[in-house]
Amino acid sequence: MKILMAASEAVPFAKTGGLADAVSALSLALSNLGHEVKIVLPRYYSISREKLQLLEGPLGVPMGRGEEWCAVYTAVLPGGTKKNPVNVYFIDHENFFGRDGIYGVPWEPDYLDNPRRFGFFSRSVFQLCRKIDWYPDILHAHDWPAAMVPVFLKFAERSGNFEKTASVLTVHNLGYQGIYGKDNYDYLNLWWDTFYNAGFEDGNMMNFLKAGLYSADKLNTVSPNYAQETRTQAHGFRLDGVLRYRSADYCGILNGIDDKVWNPKTDTLIPQTYSVQDISGKAKAKEVLQQTFNLPGNPDIPVIGMVTRLTEQKGVGELFGPTYGSAWSICRDLNLQFVLLGSGDPWCEQEIRSLSSRLSNFKGRIGYSEELSHLIEAGSDFFLMPSRYEPCGLNQMYSLAYGTLPIVRNTGGLTDTVENYNQDTGSGTGFIFDDLTPLAIYNTLGWAVWAYYNRRDHIEAMRIRAMKQNFSWKKSAQKYIDLYAGALNLIRGT
Ligand code: ADP
Ligand code: GLC
Repeated sequence: MKILMAASEAVPFAKTGGLADAVSALSLALSNLGHEVKIVLPRYYSISREKLQLLEGPLGVPMGRGEEWCAVYTAVLPGGTKKNPVNVYFIDHENFFGRDGIYGVPWEPDYLDNPRRFGFFSRSVFQLCRKIDWYPDILHAHDWPAAMVPVFLKFAERSGNFEKTASVLTVHNLGYQGIYGKDNYDYLNLWWDTFYNAGFEDGNMMNFLKAGLYSADKLNTVSPNYAQETRTQAHGFRLDGVLRYRSADYCGILNGIDDKVWNPKTDTLIPQTYSVQDISGKAKAKEVLQQTFNLPGNPDIPVIGMVTRLTEQKGVGELFGPTYGSAWSICRDLNLQFVLLGSGDPWCEQEIRSLSSRLSNFKGRIGYSEELSHLIEAGSDFFLMPSRYEPCGLNQMYSLAYGTLPIVRNTGGLTDTVENYNQDTGSGTGFIFDDLTPLAIYNTLGWAVWAYYNRRDHIEAMRIRAMKQNFSWKKSAQKYIDLYAGALNLIRGT
């Protein structure tokens, strides 16, 4: 099959979260299965042109009442095979993408012209195919920034060479929908009746993701449990009705992990590799982690790790909210060390800095670092993810692979991937709680720390069980192929 992925992020080129990991790893897994996969991304300012190759000639994209002109660059996605590489195409439009930030910057978190930026990007996908004379069977769009791709396909482009192309839209996070003023609609160059037929209407606004969910031939999200949850009012972010309506075409496919990047047996970013057979490298990682974060070196104290975007979704309010968050009491009352790497909401960054200066066993590092994230995954004993909601979550899977037991809330993909500890039998791979409250986080960490000091045999057995879990992309990629086949069947009736 020929598959074109349209996304706003893909590692190693542009990343704010798990979307970037998922897009690249899925593309590589599909190409390993023999499919022809290409990715299209905006050429953000941070992606240096020097490492890319320019395609000859400009690209004109019909937008508004005229055309937007841009250049196209290309590169090969690292990690693929020579025989069947994944080519990445970059849409280079100075005015839209020649600036810092993917969606925004701290002082303007959602650029005012995002509907234009990503509307243009989505339309450019079709012109790109014409330019390279390559027409995919499947246009696979990810999240709201690419959600216009299925809309354009259905309402403007499904003719000629795109007659037999089907679309798939993957929701990585229903919390971000791309809701903007209707005044941006004209720029998309679609008829006004399409505004209603394609489902753009959202109160007095227009909603990109909603239109994508109406228009794509098949839909999915990134775990089976989140697919169920999002059909309910409690988790549907007002789109549960659309998802229920489209139930027959909507499913959950669990993300995998890229075991070339996240594998303690081969990881070059940790001090010493390790495996189920010889786990001694994990103790070394803990030692280096304690050193790196200026914590007293002590192999016998439990280390809790966290690597996260500091946003509401991740439960940071319950943990770090000034006055009510439980991080302070956790560190004061429990004999543990706590390390955190993250960036995000300014109030939360501020609170973490403040806790780090007041508590000797809490060390927060504000920023983004691949290297530190690997060290935290390997060197911690437990990994905390008290998410408010979690479509899939990659960090708990990385943790399991590194024998670091996840402490998670019972939600979304966390439920699908972590098995709760049973202190009678010693079974499980982590610690799960239902309620998102400061007290529940406090209690569950207390439970994990209790097990660490009093049921060490259970903890060691859980580590090994965790490391033996298999979250391979191969399995998930096969499920995407089935989804693609279903989408093609709708279009071609074959
Ligand atoms: P989300 O995509 O909602 O942020 P995921 O768990 O799916 O959550 O993916 C998060 C990804 O981003 C992981 O690969 C994680 O290691 C990475 N990440 C998040 N914050 C940081 C950071 N400050 N430094 C390094 N990596 C980070
Ligand atoms: C989103 C979700 C996260 C998921 C990731 C990759 O960012 O918040 O749960 O793992 O996408 O699909």
